[in-house]
Amino acid sequence: MLSPDNPIRTVAIIGAGLMGRRLAGLVARAGRSVTLVEPVESVLESGLAAARDMAPNGSISGSDAIVQGVAHADLVIEAIIEDLSVKQALFAEMASVNAEAILCSNSSVLPITVIAEGVDDGTRCVGTHFWNPPDLIPIVEVIRGERTSDTTMARTYDFMSSIGKLPVRVEKDVPGFVGNRLQHALWREAIDLVASGVCDAETVDLVVKNTIGLRLGEMGPIENADYVGLDLTLAIHEAVLPDICAERHASPYLRDLVANGELGAKSGHGFLIWPDGSREQAAARLSAHVQKQLADQTS
Ligand SMILES: NC(=O)c1ccc[n+]([C@@H]2O[C@H](COP(=O)([O-])OP(=O)(O)OC[C@H]3O[C@@H](n4cnc5c(N)ncnc54)[C@H](O)[C@@H]3O)[C@@H](O)[C@H]2O)c1
Repeated sequence: MLSPDNPIRTVAIIGAGLMGRRLAGLVARAGRSVTLVEPVESVLESGLAAARDMAPNGSISGSDAIVQGVAHADLVIEAIIEDLSVKQALFAEMASVNAEAILCSNSSVLPITVIAEGVDDGTRCVGTHFWNPPDLIPIVEVIRGERTSDTTMARTYDFMSSIGKLPVRVEKDVPGFVGNRLQHALWREAIDLVASGVCDAETVDLVVKNTIGLRLGEMGPIENADYVGLDLTLAIHEAVLPDICAERHASPYLRDLVANGELGAKSGHGFLIWPDGSREQAAARLSAHVQKQLADQTS
């Protein structure tokens, strides 16, 4: 039974894909009893193996049945495919087999308010947006839906802290929450610079990595604005914002690339050329870079 004084001990993770398996390992490593639920047998098996690798002494069981995984959980994190109607059906089913657990969605963009529409008691539904890989990237955005209660926000926030994450409160259920809105504001302008011939794709990344990229790990945009002076920030915004891309739809340049099958690393060609093996190299490079930055932060 879940009560305000009862810590969250038993957690179900739904979906054993890229995110779910690592979430299961992360939560088990923090001493919670975890059930990983996944309908595809081979994915469940490989997911369990990956999670147990991360938490060799952890308590991790597997199931292909929602009812078995969810009925006795104090908290559930849903990490299934990003499809609204499938997530809505899952939330309704989870609510019907467990009347008390906190129900979290790891959706990257879908509003928890809408995902939880079919749940009678929406006060216990909350967005918990982990970043990939969830065991490595510190932040979890804890998103308040229209019906989420203060208690659910507080208990979810405390739970995320207790498993070693850095939770932040997102008080309005807006698409993209905080991190992805900021990230995609930058990507929109990056694509527009290439599309309008201001510079080539390599130059965009070279400039970002050797200017703002060097600062961002230490000083975020709000502190940076204060640091340089808000009068200067205002003057810059008045000069540059009228010219910055404010398009409300995806770029036609991006649409054309996708329509031509130029999907980036996975198809060998996107903005850049991706020879065989380069995607794996990029993944390893990125992971090593993130780990180094995190080690530097704590040393
Ligand atoms: N991949 C990322 O970088 C990332 C980052 C943050 C958030 N997310 C979000 O996390 C969620 C999962 O993403 P992913 O990349 O792990 O997806 P994935 O496709 O790797 O895994 C999803 C898994 O869910 C399973 N599944 C589908 N329907 C199910 C159901 N009804 N019950 C139980 N399992 C079911 C699928 O069989 C699959 O194994 C999505 O909502 C996604 O938007 C992903």
